[in-house]
Amino acid sequence: MSTVLYSGDERLANRPEKDQEGERAPYISPDIGLSDLWYFAMPSRKLKRGKLLAKRMFDLHLVFGRDSEGRPFAMQNSCRHQAMPLSLGRFDGKRLECPNHGWLYDTDGQCVSIPCLSEKQPQDISRIRIKSFPCRDVQGNVWIYAGRPSDDIPDPPRLPEVEAKHLRVDGMMRFACGMDRATLGLIDPAHGPYVHTSWLRRSDRDRREKEKRFVPSHLGFTMARHSTKTAQALWFMPKSMEIEVSFQLPGVHFECVRAGKHVFTGMITATPLTANETQVNYNLYWTIPWLAPAQPVVALLMHNFFAQDQHAMAGLSTFATERTPPLTLVGDPDQQAVWYFKLKQEYLRAKKEGRPFENPVQETVLRWRT
Ligand code: FES
Ligand SMILES: [Fe+2]
Repeated sequence: MSTVLYSGDERLANRPEKDQEGERAPYISPDIGLSDLWYFAMPSRKLKRGKLLAKRMFDLHLVFGRDSEGRPFAMQNSCRHQAMPLSLGRFDGKRLECPNHGWLYDTDGQCVSIPCLSEKQPQDISRIRIKSFPCRDVQGNVWIYAGRPSDDIPDPPRLPEVEAKHLRVDGMMRFACGMDRATLGLIDPAHGPYVHTSWLRRSDRDRREKEKRFVPSHLGFTMARHSTKTAQALWFMPKSMEIEVSFQLPGVHFECVRAGKHVFTGMITATPLTANETQVNYNLYWTIPWLAPAQPVVALLMHNFFAQDQHAMAGLSTFATERTPPLTLVGDPDQQAVWYFKLKQEYLRAKKEGRPFENPVQETVLRWRT
């Protein structure tokens, strides 16, 4: 006897989900984010072995978990039978049990048992599958891939030269805006003196000319390595340092400061929760063990810094309407924002046309005053 699948009023009998959606169809809504890329989900410590965690992401309700062997996984938090959230059911480290009628799923979202079916009425349940999302632990964080599970997905982004064991400060904030606006905040060289008022603002008289060389890099661009004085304002930072800053789609920003044989690296990521809410995570690692006492101070500074960005976005959401005029991006201070939109456009076009991505960023020197 065959299985009949329904989706709302529409009967989708005997067709696997792959055929219903089409191989090229975006895995998540294009209004929310780009498909087939890695997004930061959460610090690894938040996902305990054998436990489930419900979380809104990509405008979907997801359930995250970690199996009995320590592998993270995620799938839609909705039983294929009658949509009961699986996060409310039991999990034995291998299988998730729906709390409503006990359908069992493995951690790939495949239905493996419908206990109430009579043995005299066998059903083919191999087609019953929940939309799942590959997950990986990298450097102490869980990343989620917004694409179909397969054997040849790329590795998640990875900060150079640090590991989970290194000293670290991390935090998470929710910004009241969509993915684009949150991401623009990560690559905006000009908002510092206005948004980060308490410790970066200079008077117009103090404003300095900046000149930085940018080169194209993987799915984005990089501000080429140069010596920095900004970080030296912190008393515990060494006096001779070089910095390299990069950005890649969908919203991953790296800053790598090298001081002799040691590194301080920072990663800021944007992950869409809904069309109007974005999760921003920051992670700072460093390799100098004797700087451990600075950890609480750095945590406080980082929190205050990102709270200022969060506050700015809250202001934007309060006054944004559908009649808000389009953005006016002007000159070099806004060039990174222009690149971001061009990168997205090219990414979507390349996907649609089934061809390799061609980075639209050209090597150039950008100038601005802050
Ligand atoms: S709703 Fe999940 S088993 Fe019925
Ligand atoms: Fe900022």
